[in-house]
Amino acid sequence: DLGMPPVGGSVLLADPRGYCAGVDRAVITVEKALDLYGAPVYVRKQIVHNKHVVNDLAARGAIFVEELDEVPEGETVVFSAHGVSPAVHAEAAERELKTIDATCPLVTKVHHEARRFASDDYRILLIGHEGHEEVEGTAGEAPEHITLVQSPDEVDALEFAEGTKLSWLSQTTLSVDETMETVRRLREKFPQLEDPPSDDICYATQNRQVAVKEIAKEADLVIVVGSANSSNSVRLVEVALEAGAKASYRIDDVSELDPAWLDGVEKVGVTSGASVPDDLVQGVLTFLSEHGHPDAAAVRTADETLTFSLPAELRRDLKAAG
Ligand code: F3S
Repeated sequence: DLGMPPVGGSVLLADPRGYCAGVDRAVITVEKALDLYGAPVYVRKQIVHNKHVVNDLAARGAIFVEELDEVPEGETVVFSAHGVSPAVHAEAAERELKTIDATCPLVTKVHHEARRFASDDYRILLIGHEGHEEVEGTAGEAPEHITLVQSPDEVDALEFAEGTKLSWLSQTTLSVDETMETVRRLREKFPQLEDPPSDDICYATQNRQVAVKEIAKEADLVIVVGSANSSNSVRLVEVALEAGAKASYRIDDVSELDPAWLDGVEKVGVTSGASVPDDLVQGVLTFLSEHGHPDAAAVRTADETLTFSLPAELRRDLKAAG
């Protein structure tokens, strides 16, 4: 090993990191459904955007499908934490599937806002990433009313007829700073723009960004554990770099950690996305401690106590089963 790291390098561990209340609820929903109904239990899309979580549940009998036509008649299907459009609910009803909706309540809240603005005849500027499941679900609430805005730069090209009522909503897992910049540019161009009743970027996304900013101020390298399709995990890398980290990498687990990244690095920051089980982070910490970074200190920027009750349809069946 030519690139020996300095002896006694340290680790700053972001807190909060990892599981949010919506992910915790969604994963427990599939586990309880497997216990209660027996395998297989079908899940539409990845229950949460983490490779390890999906593989573990698949090993226990969950079958992940892309669309409902892959679910046999009469079977049970769980909807993922990212939410589904009304068209998906309708298709499930038509196919007589038993559904359990594990949509995060904070995503459901955005669906309600979309329906309300649409019924008041607003054009809704939905800030989010095209193709992301959450955006497809939210946009599906009012497809005629929604215009997707993916970045601050897309604001320039927007045009609406004189007198159009405008509001904005967002995906729950975006960069807070970039979203605020998009809203600023929207308001500059369209002074009539109305705000949603509350922020759509969820508490977990916000808290993880605040924490990673704090560690990025001091860390030369920030490692983010999370899957490539996890929006909030990918945002953490961007936020870390913007906050001053010299380098930041996203990895699914320790097997992707390249020891060369540690060359000359004294302080390593570690965090994880909202869909990441903490044993994957512990694996990274063990590796770091074996590679010259034995001391890990938590950097705590918020207390998280929120939990959500399980989906009502599952609670009812659990109760009936005693
Ligand atoms: Fe919900 Fe936010 Fe987690 S929207 S699923 S609490 S990342």
